[in-house]
Amino acid sequence: MAQQTLRPALLERLPSRVVGLLREIGALGDERGCHVYVVGGVVRDLLLGHVTLDLDLAVEGDGIAFARAVADRYRTGLAVFERFATARLVFPDGLKMDIATTRREFYAEPALLPTVQPAAIEEDLYRRDFTINAIAMQLNPGQFGRLLDVYGGQRDLRARRICVLHAGSFQDDPTRIFRAIRFEQRFKFRLEPGTLRLLTQAASTNLIQQLSGPRLQNEILVLFAERDPARAIARLAKLKLLRFLHGRLRYTMDVKRVVLAVPKAFAWWGSRSPDAVIDRPLVYLMALLSESSPAVIAAISKRLACSREQATKLSAGGKRLDRILKKLTAKGTLRPSQVYRLLVDLPDEALVLLVATQVSCQQAAQLSQLKRYLMAYEKNRAIATVLKGRDLQAMGLKPGPQYGAILGKLLDARIDGAVASEAEERAFVQKRIGALGDC
Ligand code: CTP
Repeated sequence: MAQQTLRPALLERLPSRVVGLLREIGALGDERGCHVYVVGGVVRDLLLGHVTLDLDLAVEGDGIAFARAVADRYRTGLAVFERFATARLVFPDGLKMDIATTRREFYAEPALLPTVQPAAIEEDLYRRDFTINAIAMQLNPGQFGRLLDVYGGQRDLRARRICVLHAGSFQDDPTRIFRAIRFEQRFKFRLEPGTLRLLTQAASTNLIQQLSGPRLQNEILVLFAERDPARAIARLAKLKLLRFLHGRLRYTMDVKRVVLAVPKAFAWWGSRSPDAVIDRPLVYLMALLSESSPAVIAAISKRLACSREQATKLSAGGKRLDRILKKLTAKGTLRPSQVYRLLVDLPDEALVLLVATQVSCQQAAQLSQLKRYLMAYEKNRAIATVLKGRDLQAMGLKPGPQYGAILGKLLDARIDGAVASEAEERAFVQKRIGALGDC
């Protein structure tokens, strides 16, 4: 039997200041004569015994006017999106809250954003993705904690299944295909058979192709930001969804091994450079593309409307990285400057991926060699020559491409320890200028 009211024990999992705030906002609802609810993920998570503080509020009435009243009272930051009848508030302590007018949505065309029209809470819940995300909890005094669960959300939470509310759900919004996988994997739920059928049907059309680059990118990266993206990637492959990134993308055993090795690579990297900021979801995407050619990677960057930074990082991976890895794990010893030259253009994400790729090969000796090189590289990364271009000019070198060549060789010599002081640098440069016969 569905609960009518959220159990106090569950509510108490929220920080007390948040519960206090929700009660006050409910009272504001009474003052302004409107019903106010929290909806979506927070309610779902509370019922599962988890706490999330991404608060989504729905107001039966003018949601934007209500959001302005809340913003005034609590002196929050406020961004209003008139077209979608939503507003985002950021409280002084950083708490974020979205407030929306309860609405029905019309999808003029599948895969595009909908137009909205005010409607009662029941209809607002009906337009949502899955039953487990379509439960509302009222905030008005006297009704505080009352659950509105019209579509069997609690039943499906108990049965641990993901279930759409109507047959057109994936058509309306194909991002829900990825969301279904996200919730299925996160909570270890199942897709209800009818929902799975609808999802497979939707995935067999070109609906996802119609999604804009930023929307598809967001879904992919949000999915890869989950705790265990390897499972989600395997699911994408099984449901034949990788083709929406690129027709030639395959989830081979080798790629799978690299994806599965990413957590170990992160653990090693984190233990060496705890402060490094790594784009974790992007590393998973790079792992998925570890056997892809530069052309395929470029096409995927374009499809996902990647930023220049993301695209540069992605392009450092793929088959190109394999060639670098081969050199780093070959027999024999590389000079520190050779290692530096191999790695210097790579973003940290690609360095993590190098480790993951080598972990996936299960060759212990090569893995330790790679780690040794990476540790040495970490130290050498910061080395710079004392002499700069202007010093070379003062030493009589005419402007030209030889500047870069000589400074490059000087840096190599510094890294290899062949020169260790400014005087030695000067002697090194002088010798090269002399050899050019340029003085
Ligand atoms: N929603 C939807 N269809 C979408 C996106 C969102 O119906 N394509 C609804 C769902 O009710 C969802 C709510 O909007 O619960 C909030 O969306 P979002 O914050 O993206 O989802 P959460 O459920 O909070 O997921 P997460 O826990 O990953 O933040």
